[in-house]
Amino acid sequence: MCGIVGYFGPSQDSVKIVLEGLKRLEYRGYDSAGVSFIDQNNHLKVYKKAGKLDNLKEELKDKDIVARTCIGHTRWATHGGVTDVNAHPHNNDILSIIHNGIIENAHEIRAQLEKEGVKFKSETDSESFLELVTYELRKDVPIKEAIAKSFKKIHGNSSFVVLYPKTGEIFAIKRGAPLVAGINEIGSEALVSSDPYALAGMVHKLYFPEDEVLLHISAANHNLINFYELDLTKTKRYLSKKQDLSVQVSEKGEYEHYMLKEIHEQPELIRALTQYYFGGEGYESLTRVAKLKPERILISACGTAAYAGTVAKDFFEGINRIPTVVELASEFRYRNPIIKPTDLGIFVSQSGETADTLAAQAMCKKSGIKTVSIANVEGSTLFRDCDENLLIRAGVEIGVASTKAFTQQVLTGRLLSAALSGKLDDAEYRVKLAAKFSLLAERVDHLLVHSEVIKNVAESIYNKKGFFYTGRGAYYPIALEGALKLKEIAYVHAEGYAAGELKHGPIALIDEEIVNVAIIAPELYEKTISNIQENKARKGIIVGIGQAEDKEGKRLSDYYIPVDFNGLEELAPLYVNVVNQLLAYYMAKFKGTDIDKPRNLAKSVTVE
Ligand code: M6R
Repeated sequence: MCGIVGYFGPSQDSVKIVLEGLKRLEYRGYDSAGVSFIDQNNHLKVYKKAGKLDNLKEELKDKDIVARTCIGHTRWATHGGVTDVNAHPHNNDILSIIHNGIIENAHEIRAQLEKEGVKFKSETDSESFLELVTYELRKDVPIKEAIAKSFKKIHGNSSFVVLYPKTGEIFAIKRGAPLVAGINEIGSEALVSSDPYALAGMVHKLYFPEDEVLLHISAANHNLINFYELDLTKTKRYLSKKQDLSVQVSEKGEYEHYMLKEIHEQPELIRALTQYYFGGEGYESLTRVAKLKPERILISACGTAAYAGTVAKDFFEGINRIPTVVELASEFRYRNPIIKPTDLGIFVSQSGETADTLAAQAMCKKSGIKTVSIANVEGSTLFRDCDENLLIRAGVEIGVASTKAFTQQVLTGRLLSAALSGKLDDAEYRVKLAAKFSLLAERVDHLLVHSEVIKNVAESIYNKKGFFYTGRGAYYPIALEGALKLKEIAYVHAEGYAAGELKHGPIALIDEEIVNVAIIAPELYEKTISNIQENKARKGIIVGIGQAEDKEGKRLSDYYIPVDFNGLEELAPLYVNVVNQLLAYYMAKFKGTDIDKPRNLAKSVTVE
């Protein structure tokens, strides 16, 4: 989705700083980029280009730019095609703005302003905010008031950064969309962004404003950043924290892709999670959530996070016997779901900024139940809106295809289930659980070292017509997740199916060009084998993922990926999931797709 970066301070290299921030946001997905800044003659300059950031850099290459205040944007088109004109910033002779989100009543605002003689240059919804604020300024309304007044008039979730050339100041505001500001150690520079990662290493302290808090960044005040309510009274409605992200942590290092790096980070992260949750802050938060003693759990999330929630459901129901419902946030938010006072709402999200998940959380909160996030980004909107937070501690995830976050989300669910069963203080139980986590880490390590087998299978099947991933029980969400990974990065049609369900329709599609990636788990083994036989009888290509010693599984498979389920018990699905991650990764690599930034996708989906 759109990326936002703004710089205010004494550096004359503000454009470079903003471009560096935008570069870091490339992973979120975008289709055009632009910057605007105040030059040494106090003139507003704007450069914007459709396509990659490199197009914009090329355009700026030979310009002798000296600029102190700069705002920049990477656009993910919603209203209006991918063109230079539709790229942000949007500007007139008074203002320059960048926008992330959707203005739902843009059409009406535009029509009203056009009646007043305002001329629009682009097809975007964003420009309506620019002209709305400008309309107020032309009536001599002071800038802060003009922004606040205009912001009240727009509908939908958005964040904006406004550059006011007259004073060189920056303003920012948001509703239901990500926005973060930061200052450097000596308080001389301020930056704003849609993602704290863009500001890694540039600022010392971060500020996460709540919705409808107006940020005014100006050297004229005692503090560089001032926060106001929409009635322009000063406010403290923001969360501040030390910036602890370093740029190094989020570099690719020896790996060809972030996705591969993130797959490889999993063993270490798995090991670290029990340490975090068995003591200190992590323990406290788990204990608080367990004390809520829910009679029922409602899990809501999107994409991979929803599949992680589905695996966690098995823990809550299987281990805790707490009825658990998992629902896609995009559906949940528009239904009239049954929410009882004794329910607990759990929202799973890597980014903590997914619009649908935020809306589902808001709905549960409104109905009066307690809400808990299982999220990666501390300080994200979801993190701030929930009553309690269980951080998954996955570190920055850059690859659009979520990998390590899934593993950590499921494991955090497992730890919550331990807390709900009241066993978190039982030393013996903790040792056993930590050993199980460790065994999982060890098995994943082993898989990574021996990934050549998976790579070879990928090479043999990557150009086949279609893929069915099948699994039973807790492996069913793993099949769904495996298919999602393949679709998003290899651009091939893949579906996840409960193994026993294929014969109820999809089996009609099986032929010698269709691959069945079959998870042959020890549970319901015979049934799974029968399902494979059904597909094989119709000439389907079978890729079995099964126990190394399983002769029958091997015999039935055209390609076999041997694994070791022993001892992993309820964590085994996560182990198989890593096989699927690698399989998708290598197939995409053979296809030559843009693995870290697959077409049409955004890392964090902040629009509906
Ligand atoms: O940031 P979130 O976890 O809330 O994102 C939810 C989905 O958009 C995300 O998991 C998406 O499905 C991934 N690209 C899958 O790899």
